[in-house]
Amino acid sequence: MPVLMVATYNEDGSVNVMNAAWGTMQERGNVALNLTETHKTVINIKARKAFTVSIADAAHVVEADYFGVVSGNKEPKKFEKSGMTATKSDLIDAPIINEFPICMECEFIEYQDNEYGCGVKCTMPGAQSMLLPASFIISLLLFYIQILHTDHAGKLFHHL
Ligand SMILES: Cc1cc2nc3c(=O)[nH]c(=O)nc-3n(C[C@H](O)[C@H](O)[C@H](O)COP(=O)(O)O)c2cc1C
Repeated sequence: MPVLMVATYNEDGSVNVMNAAWGTMQERGNVALNLTETHKTVINIKARKAFTVSIADAAHVVEADYFGVVSGNKEPKKFEKSGMTATKSDLIDAPIINEFPICMECEFIEYQDNEYGCGVKCTMPGAQSMLLPASFIISLLLFYIQILHTDHAGKLFHHL
């Protein structure tokens, strides 16, 4: 299972990214992420009503790990120090990380913090018509990433 990179804008327009394992598709075009409310990412999502979710690849495992252990609450230059770059989305008020291979642009719906709440819920503008082709491409990419990881870990796919 690849990790998700959740990218947002801080108050001053700088970029923040966090690492999230807990995320899922809910229904057509909707995504739910289980994010701790005190993370800088959630503070930014509530303020800007938008975020992007990228899928990290094997080439950026060090950066992905860094985004999961350092908080923008304590390190305002978190993203700058990662050495990665970002471009503003044309659709929403959130950054797209240039180096990650795939990105979902998400509009914030609500933060659920009740007993069975799921954390951040969002929808993807234009996702309805793109859903089938997008899920096919994501499946192929996940399969490819899985092969890469296996190759790094166990050399099982050396002949491919
Ligand atoms: C592999 C991995 C998976 C993680 N998954 C989640 C998650 O699903 N939800 C969450 O709230 N935090 C998760 N975290 C922790 C956040 O990424 C971490 O607390 C981060 O520093 C928050 O950054 P921020 O405060 O800049 O938003 C994960 C960390 C790692 C390393």
